[in-house]
Amino acid sequence: MWQIKTNHLTYVYDKKDPNHYDALSDVSLEIKKGDLVCIVGKTGSGKSTLVQTFNNLISPTSGYCQVENFYITSDKKLKKELLKNQDKSVIEENKHVARLRRKVGLVFQFPEYQLFAETIIKDVMFGPKNFGLKEEEAKEVAKKSLIEVGIPESYFEKSPFELSGGEKRRVAIAGIIASDPDILVLDEPTAGLDPNGKIEIMNLIKRFHEKGRTIIIVTHDMNLVLNFAKTVIVLNDGKLIEVTSPEKLFQSPDIEKYSLEIPTLFKFINLLKNDGFAGNLSEIYDFDTLIKRIYEAKYE
Ligand SMILES: Nc1ncnc2c1ncn2[C@@H]1O[C@H](COP(=O)(O)OP(=O)(O)OP(=O)(O)O)[C@@H](O)[C@H]1O
Ligand SMILES: [Mg+2]
Repeated sequence: MWQIKTNHLTYVYDKKDPNHYDALSDVSLEIKKGDLVCIVGKTGSGKSTLVQTFNNLISPTSGYCQVENFYITSDKKLKKELLKNQDKSVIEENKHVARLRRKVGLVFQFPEYQLFAETIIKDVMFGPKNFGLKEEEAKEVAKKSLIEVGIPESYFEKSPFELSGGEKRRVAIAGIIASDPDILVLDEPTAGLDPNGKIEIMNLIKRFHEKGRTIIIVTHDMNLVLNFAKTVIVLNDGKLIEVTSPEKLFQSPDIEKYSLEIPTLFKFINLLKNDGFAGNLSEIYDFDTLIKRIYEAKYE
């Protein structure tokens, strides 16, 4: 069952500009509840624009985005049409953007845009307080979230602007998970993190997913896509190319057409193929299997 749907979604940043073009053009897709989705595509393909429509940070110029019963569009006539004959509860729900924002937590591509409070702890407390927790409860939740993303207690009273890029990203993630959203959207969550930091953040995201949450990750890291994604959405020049699986995507010849990097595992498999390797190289999606196949070909 889908949880997020876009229907002929088009987004134009500056309609008044005579040279304007569509940052997103006629995108129709569905994202299932509980899925772990990666959105990929070259720079400027519309990834960040798309995910910002999911919590109505921006609203489609035409077409719409739907998150459960919430309809997002700036086409007033269309919205009226969509809400016609709906239950009273749906019409009421559509008046409360704050509820949608609580459901869909979005961690921005540039965490500087997300951080604003004088101290780190206050920054992370903002969401939970806004959603109704008392000061002390919000503080507890914020502390837990910060520890979970690997920010030590000695940092809590510092200004978020004193942090390094990777630390800012962790605090921004803590600020969103503190509100425990049903849908967690992360725009390039591992950019600027060192290898250990990446593993820690991806493990945290995995734990969140295991609690039944829907996860949507925008990324340029194809190794991450191969290791984590269940579903991949490919965008190119504002258009939806396909909704597929990592296994299918990385075996398709289109991968370079969309400027996507080939994951290390597949680079290795291709090298072996080109080298005339005699063993079975089909259906390998992790290094353990590849090592087993090489061993079998050599010693069995
Ligand atoms: N605030 C803005 N005003 C005008 N144009 C914008 C704005 N933000 C993005 N664009 C344009 O819209 C298109 C899609 O941008 P978007 O940021 O969604 O791409 P992206 O896939 O997230 O790229 P990246 O991988 O570099 O983050 C680009 O051509 C970009 O120049
Ligand atoms: Mg982006």
